[in-house]
Amino acid sequence: MNSHNAPKAKRTEFRGRFGVLARYAAAMVTFAGALALVAASPADSVPAKPDAAASRAAFLQVYSVLTSPRCQNCHPAGDAPLQGDDSHVHIQNVKRGKDGHGVYGMRCDTCHQAANLPGAHMPPGNPKWSLPPAAQKMTFVGRSPAELCNQIKDPNQNGKRSLQALLDHVANDDLVAWGWNPGDGRTLPPLTRPETVAQMKIWINGGAACPE
Ligand code: HEC
Ligand code: HEC
Repeated sequence: MNSHNAPKAKRTEFRGRFGVLARYAAAMVTFAGALALVAASPADSVPAKPDAAASRAAFLQVYSVLTSPRCQNCHPAGDAPLQGDDSHVHIQNVKRGKDGHGVYGMRCDTCHQAANLPGAHMPPGNPKWSLPPAAQKMTFVGRSPAELCNQIKDPNQNGKRSLQALLDHVANDDLVAWGWNPGDGRTLPPLTRPETVAQMKIWINGGAACPE
């Protein structure tokens, strides 16, 4: 009797296992379907309805970077660059000059080399070291969030940049990169570069809304 029942029991056991496998396979198909749905909506697509409140909030984050010493020291209101975490006027009577690279005999690259020189209070360096030109000063110092927001998205004040070009400048320009690699003894902006770029994307995708 036992010898007769043995194969039947095995078959039942096999069907049981197959049933589990079949249910597992069905679950995998459902899971794959969900993945396909996620893949169909890329994270960086423009939202159907721009979120102006999120956009304004993101600009305030970007503003905290633009007006940090590492950025605003080269975006002064007057014609002299600023220095240090207290943004004091550059010593040695350094002036912007027409092209932003200084005046005759006091050109920026007299002291500023292609790279930072090691040691506190040594000149920071970059091949493009200069202020924006006299004809378009791109002033960050003393601007309210609303003023700076409207200014940097205005092609007549930002070097003829589209919003995409503005984002690209902050994400990829190597002089902007210096702000996050400022040499010995200088503090960093409040957000990292990737965080700043992420906030700029939220600002732009939300319609580049400006604080009141
Ligand atoms: C005579 C030399 C000299 C010349 C010319 C000069 N600089 Fe400087 N600059 C320095 C030195 C030295 C420092 C570092 C000061 C310190 O960290 O205390 C400095 C620091 C700076 C900083 C401060 C960076 C920061 O965030 O703290 C800026 C901005 C700057 N220079 C811009 C310029 C620009 C733009 C020009 C040309 C228009 C220029 N400098 C010309 C010597 C010079
Ligand atoms: C050594 C000086 C210097 C420093 C430091 C500097 N910038 Fe600038 N920035 C410039 C110059 C010069 C231009 C103009 C370049 C052009 O139009 O091609 C500019 C242009 C810009 C622009 C585009 C035009 C506009 O409307 O403002 C943005 C945005 C900007 N800078 C952001 C930053 C940020 C963010 C930092 C700090 C992480 C920074 N900059 C630090 C010199 C500087």
